[in-house]
Amino acid sequence: MSDLQFPDGFLWGTATASFQIEGGRKERGDSIWDDFCAWPGKVVDGDTGDVADDHYHRYQQDVDLLKAFNANTYRFSISWPRVLPQGTGEVNHVGLDFYSRLVDALLAAGIEPFITLYHWDLPSALQRLGGWVNRDTVYRYVDYAEIVAKKLGDRVRYWITHNEPWVAAILGHHEGVHAPGWTDHSLALQVGHHLLLSHGLAMPLLHQLTKAGSRLGITLNLSQVYAASDKTEDIEAAKRYDGHLNRWYLDPVLLGNYPQDIWQQLGWRVPRIAPQDMDIIGTPIDFLGINNYSRAVIGHSDEGENHIQSIRPKGEYTAMDWEVYPQGIKALLVRVTREYGAPDLYVTENGCAYEDTISDDGQVHDPQRVDFFRRYLKACHEAITEGVQLKGYLAWSLLDNFEWSFGYSRRFGITYVDYATQERIPKDSAKFLSEVFRSNSLPQEA
Ligand code: FCB
Repeated sequence: MSDLQFPDGFLWGTATASFQIEGGRKERGDSIWDDFCAWPGKVVDGDTGDVADDHYHRYQQDVDLLKAFNANTYRFSISWPRVLPQGTGEVNHVGLDFYSRLVDALLAAGIEPFITLYHWDLPSALQRLGGWVNRDTVYRYVDYAEIVAKKLGDRVRYWITHNEPWVAAILGHHEGVHAPGWTDHSLALQVGHHLLLSHGLAMPLLHQLTKAGSRLGITLNLSQVYAASDKTEDIEAAKRYDGHLNRWYLDPVLLGNYPQDIWQQLGWRVPRIAPQDMDIIGTPIDFLGINNYSRAVIGHSDEGENHIQSIRPKGEYTAMDWEVYPQGIKALLVRVTREYGAPDLYVTENGCAYEDTISDDGQVHDPQRVDFFRRYLKACHEAITEGVQLKGYLAWSLLDNFEWSFGYSRRFGITYVDYATQERIPKDSAKFLSEVFRSNSLPQEA
């Protein structure tokens, strides 16, 4: 069998997020994730982001790794409290310079920087004023985006305004399992609206402040939803779930409207919207980023707010208990393409956690992760063959890191991190991906 070639100019790399890898806590202001870590029982083992992978001090070593992996892009996020310790006002120039040095190091290594402006680490000072529930935070975000774009826009072409607004809104403000740990559905939806609004408001500004040919977008966490059976009530439940998880974010960003069926179901809980908000949110984007790990299987339930239950089908599962389901990413990419006018797409995260250990030979052998990447990449390739404008793929993650409420107990890296020594050991999956990145193709076993 011949290897599967990806399109010319395809972007290949890995993704990370500031709070999950940087450490350097003393050199930045507090974020809501520091506060969440200090809340007893919220994060496994009371882990914190104080040191993490110490990337703030070791970034050059990590850029060297990316280069060794033949990555031609790298997605990382900016820590708002590192740039603006109080969320607004005085800039921490040392912090901003850190990102400038990182960008220069990447460019020197021939790696295109791909920036996420917000990956959940809101400055605590803004949370004290209500955080994302307060509409004023939207304008503070735009000010922050302006500061970053003025500094880095001359060298950085790829910009993501937000990472996974569903997670920040729902896990953070409805389910309470992410910072800031609230449990109010209505406020969570208001948060989601404000995140989207800040995205739309930042778009024209980012276009103005970034170099010619820059590409701007937003990253959504999307999962293809399957009905538990072909019974009407299960099909309806799956449609509702899809509406809350996927369409509630896709429709505003790509069509300028919230989906009417879900709006009706939400009743009094719907967000308050000012005139013009939907037009702003629907400002055209250059690409959509998709984070995908698994699928959802949904059936009807007689109980609960939305009469929905998650089904756990028999199958293969990762250490997160997420099902390995490569066909799901293909179905999702094709669906977004068909239903939303074929926007340019990037897989901005895809990967898996397994219980990796260092073997006697000093290496980390992770055959399940290699298999995962091989099968998900094959599915991505099939989607391209069906006309999907997929322009790049970023594996989550460059390094093992702080996996939010799971602390350091889940390893997603293609590089193993020994947290006691900060030694980095590229896993077998890194070697596998390096070859894919180098050859722009997926080897097919005979
Ligand atoms: C995504 C997050 C990312 C990482 C992966 C496993 O939801 O964007 O930071 O934690 O999940």
